[in-house]
Parts: sequence; structure tokens; C-alpha cells
Amino acid sequence: MKAAEISGKVHYIGVNDRVTHKFEGMWPLPAGVSYNSYLLVGSDKAAIIDGVESAYALEQIGHIKAILGDRCPDYLIINHMEPDHSGAIALLMQAFPGMTVVGNAITLTQVEGYYGINDNVLAVKDGQELSLGEGTTLKFTLTPMVHWPETMVTYLQEEKTLFSGDAFGCFGALNGAVVDSDMDTARYFPEMLRYYSNIVGRYGMFVQRALKKLADVEIDVICPTHGPVWKSRIAEVVDLYDKLSSYTPLDNGVTIVYGTMYGNTQRMAEAAAEALAREGVRDIEMFNCSVTDLSHILAAAFRHRGLIIAAPTYSDGLFPPVKAFVEAIALRGLKNREVLVFGSHTWSQRAIDVINGHLESIVAEPVAEAVNNRQAPGQKVLDQCREKACLLAARLV
Ligand code: FEO
Repeated sequence: MKAAEISGKVHYIGVNDRVTHKFEGMWPLPAGVSYNSYLLVGSDKAAIIDGVESAYALEQIGHIKAILGDRCPDYLIINHMEPDHSGAIALLMQAFPGMTVVGNAITLTQVEGYYGINDNVLAVKDGQELSLGEGTTLKFTLTPMVHWPETMVTYLQEEKTLFSGDAFGCFGALNGAVVDSDMDTARYFPEMLRYYSNIVGRYGMFVQRALKKLADVEIDVICPTHGPVWKSRIAEVVDLYDKLSSYTPLDNGVTIVYGTMYGNTQRMAEAAAEALAREGVRDIEMFNCSVTDLSHILAAAFRHRGLIIAAPTYSDGLFPPVKAFVEAIALRGLKNREVLVFGSHTWSQRAIDVINGHLESIVAEPVAEAVNNRQAPGQKVLDQCREKACLLAARLV
């Protein structure tokens, strides 16, 4: 896409990636992703904030030359070093050899480690300012672990514009417009939930710390490294991040996550879903772990307060696709959920124990004792699933 003006001083010089199938090699990108980069032009100096993935370096350089002509940007400010943003650094430095790389102490060790650059660098500290000329003052705030240890945000004080790195970003390429008020943002909010739950979800405590650190900063514009620039819906995206990072469910719906080989565990899940619906739960999402990508299941688990995990035992352990989900929520420390567990087996019951072991580590208190099915689930087992689903519904409706 073309470079776009966000304000008189701030230009969008990012790119769309509509080719990569899986972000970080794991997370599906059905609508692509944008790598956002910005060019700030002050009266004295010009600065690039954040880069793009290496394959898009020439496109980004083209955007910069279209705005600056023969002038060289003075600074490359790096808020976050993950290669989806730093991959273009080596080519940017070749194109603009006089440019100074700006980052905090951790950033600069990573710049050297990834790209062998240790010359013409400027280390900045928490709270330090950098002027690009009159009326263009940048302030740096360290926000470690949102999403890597070196992450920081940059604030253009005079325009109350926050360059937030991954925070407030989402999957989904930008379809023509860059700023939220120029587009229908409906498709980006679910993609922010998926991005957060997949990638940032483990670091909720650090996101909370960053939100508190920035609580008194007046913000008129948020420029993240992925997805729309936020101007008209800032309160909504900040509220969403606050809820997600404090593990607050977004609604009283239920995620039913199950694995099944021959349909027996699925029958248990279906019985529970019917009971939930009868009891008035309206938002029920069911996922066969062998069919739906983990990325979408994690997003649902971060959305809904209710969670049912149903799985067979497999090779004396937990059915692997469900194991991947349970390990993923444990890794992310998901909590504040109302949880039920169903297990199914033929001769050796292991699934329930493994699931419960992970639930203990995320401090979840199951709504009721697990339903334990042996071989085909008869009427008695299916009634247990329904009864326990009713107990879950009572906590939600
Ligand atoms: Fe968009 Fe953590 O990189």
C-alpha cells in the first residue's frame, strides 16, 4: 500500500503481508497482517519508528524516499526487536548509512546479535526524551515483556501520539485505509483478541504494568505495529487490553473444547451443549481440536467465562490435540474461568488427571467433579454431562 499521512508530521510507511500463511510459523493469517512503520518529520530531524519484515524492506524504503526525497532519515527508533519489525534493519542501514539506531540497552544488544550493528547507535533510558526539532519531542517509556524484554513505547508529546509496538495491534492486513475512522473496524476486533491470546497472552502481568505506567499519559492517537491506527476507538482498544491482560472474561459464553476419535467424547460434549442452551446460555462455541486451529480456540477461551474440556485418553496420556490446548492455556496462565472436565477411555483413565494437573497450575477451580466415561457413554454418563453443564450454566446465566 502507499505511504499515508496520519498528521502533518507523522506518515505511515508500513506494508501488508498477504502471503505468509502462519505468523511466527504457528498462527494462521487468513486476512494477512500489516507490519506498521512510521516516519516522523520534525523541523530538524526525521525518524523512522519501527521497521518491517525483511521481505518488505524495499517497499518501505520506497515509501521513505517518496516522502524525504534525497534526505536521509536521522534516526531509526526500535520499539520492538522481533524480526517482523526489525528484519529490514540491515537493508535500511545500507540505504541510509548515516542513520543512528535508537533503542534501550537490551534492544542494542539484540541489534548487534541479530544484525551485527554496533556502530552509530544511541542508547536511551526510561523516560528519556529526543527532539526532532521545535514541537516534535519524543519520550521513551520502557514496557518490558510486551511482548519481548526490550519492548518500549515512544510518545510524540505535542501530538499525544503513542507508538505502542505490538500493544493494541491485531492480525489482518490494512485494506486501503490506515486510520480506524476511515474504515469499518468490525473485522479487526476479533483479530485483536486472537493476536493477544496467541502471542501476548502469556504476559498479562507485564501488560497490566505497562497500562498502569501509561495511565496518566493523554493519548489522542495510537500507532501500533500491526493493524489500524487508532484515533476514534482508543477507549475501546485500551479497555479490551485491560480486560484481556487481567484475564477478565469478555462475556458469559462457554467454550467447549473436545477431542474425539470415534465420536464418544463428542457425544458427551454435545450433551453438555444441549443442557447449556436449555439453561439459557446463548453464546456457545464448540471446537473439535482435531479440526480447528489452536489459534481460534485460544481466542474463544480468552473471550468466554465458561470452559468445558473433554478428551479421551490416548497412549496412556491425554489426547494430543487437546493436550496442546491445555498446555497453551496453562502457559498463558488463563484464569477466572468456570471450568468442567470430561474424560473418556477404554481401559486406562489418564485424560482427566492430565487436564486437572494443568488446571491446578492455572488456579482454576472446576465447577464440579469431572465426568469419567468408560467405553461408550450410556444414558447415565450423558445425564452426568447434562447435570454438570447445568451447574456451569447456573454460574453464568
Ligand atoms: Fe509484531 Fe512481537 O512482534
